[in-house]
Amino acid sequence: MDQIIKDLDILPRSEEKAQEESCGVKISKEVNTGKTRKLYIESYGCQMNFSDSEIVTSIMHQDGFDTTATAESADVIFLNTCSIREKAEQTVRNRLVHFNSMKKSRPGLMIGILGCMAERLKEKLLEEEKMVDLVAGPDSYRDLPKLISEVDGGTKAVNTFLSREETYADISPVRLNSNGVTAFISIMRGCDNMCSFCVVPFTRGRERSRDPHSVVAEARGLFEQGFREVTLLGQNVDSYKWSPEVNNKAQLEKKGVSDIVNFAELLQMVADIHPDLRVRFSTSHPKDITDEVLHTIARNENICDYIHLPAQSGNTRVLNQMNRTYDRDWYINRVDAIRSIIGPECGISSDMIAGFCTETEEEHQDTLSLMDYVKYDFSYMFFYSERPGTLAARKFTDDVPLEVKKRRLQEIIAKQQIHSLERNKLEVGKIHRVLIEGTSRKSEEQLQGRNSANKVIVFDRGNHQKGEYVNVLVTDCTAATLFGQVAEQ
Ligand code: SAH
Ligand code: SF4
Ligand code: F3S
Repeated sequence: MDQIIKDLDILPRSEEKAQEESCGVKISKEVNTGKTRKLYIESYGCQMNFSDSEIVTSIMHQDGFDTTATAESADVIFLNTCSIREKAEQTVRNRLVHFNSMKKSRPGLMIGILGCMAERLKEKLLEEEKMVDLVAGPDSYRDLPKLISEVDGGTKAVNTFLSREETYADISPVRLNSNGVTAFISIMRGCDNMCSFCVVPFTRGRERSRDPHSVVAEARGLFEQGFREVTLLGQNVDSYKWSPEVNNKAQLEKKGVSDIVNFAELLQMVADIHPDLRVRFSTSHPKDITDEVLHTIARNENICDYIHLPAQSGNTRVLNQMNRTYDRDWYINRVDAIRSIIGPECGISSDMIAGFCTETEEEHQDTLSLMDYVKYDFSYMFFYSERPGTLAARKFTDDVPLEVKKRRLQEIIAKQQIHSLERNKLEVGKIHRVLIEGTSRKSEEQLQGRNSANKVIVFDRGNHQKGEYVNVLVTDCTAATLFGQVAEQ
């Protein structure tokens, strides 16, 4: 496991190997300010979960805890969990067994489950996993100090209340695993989309947007500390909507509310902070991404030319069964709009699911042909994993045999490899503006960073350091990485 932690923790996104799991695990860093108790937090799942762990750490630092990077020296262990696929939950269960063995020799050790698995299983976690003391869902982190004192008092503690308003806007996250150059900012929580395969609407609750002024203040604060790139996070950023008059989406959708800030306007506000602050965002939903957003990207040099636009499938009947609310033609129209408004070099990536309920061989071929049309720079690829309680689990049979799902996934991965290489080769011979993120994984003598389209570029260190922008002439590439030399500035 420790090796897995190490591998996944440091891999840049585009270099992850199998891509069956989109994310690895992140562990808390050492913060020692002489407080009496120590927290160790391990986070699984998506960037939003990692971002939540930074909020949890901030709340815990206010409550008399320092953080540690080793579970062995902790008084409290938190696992911030993911439920997106069966495998994600299994990983956490295995970790619990490991931590339980530590508890035998240290009876005072407190173990808490946070995040999506906490929300999905609630009190059941206490029954199923005897070693858990505390269960806290994604909207109950302000309550952690109280829950901890309940456990100190000898009872188990649970809060899985989902809120329509909580955005943690006033909590200043403690940056974990930070390279000091790039950071994530949550701009919304929850999801109202109800894709039939997906557990997120159940674990994260209703969609709500965060006050744009708090987003801008956080981004400005990061820039002043030396950060040079922020990624705005939400399950569906294109449906971001905020008004000073109301504080939840249901009210927002009633007539008569003026003064609404939409996602394009938020992007502009963040981009206006400073030309040297790069702005990225994730995830865009094909049904909601507007030309206004694309024009905002095209107009602003510092909003990166990269869009994560998960298709999930290339077949209209399957998309309908997935309740994605767009069809193949609509998706292709959005890709064409990206290429014409921003330009052909704009990076586009996707998520794909192989072997969703009732998917036929021909329908799978449509996914492959969509990939041929778009030529994604990168994709996260999965085989379908049924999640209890979702629309698909209730309405459809998970009828594609596992070997078939795996074979289709392999075909999708193989195609993506070809396209990634093809797309990277187009960059050889060109000069790219790179924001340096740190030392390359393979050599101390080399640095790495990304271009606007989110491609990792490795080059000789020279006199450069992280946080700087440099122009790099790309001379070679693999499917995952571009290699080059610093060009005249
Ligand atoms: N909000 C994002 C996705 C968040 S979940 C969006 O709408 O695109 C990340 C990815 O996990 C999804 O895009 C999907 O490809 C995958 N995923 C979600 N549920 C899954 C399931 N039950 N089985 C396999 N993959 C799943
Ligand atoms: Fe899940 Fe769909 Fe919401 Fe994404 S948009 S989080 S896939 S329900
Ligand atoms: Fe997983 Fe929850 Fe994110 S289910 S993918 S951690 S929103």
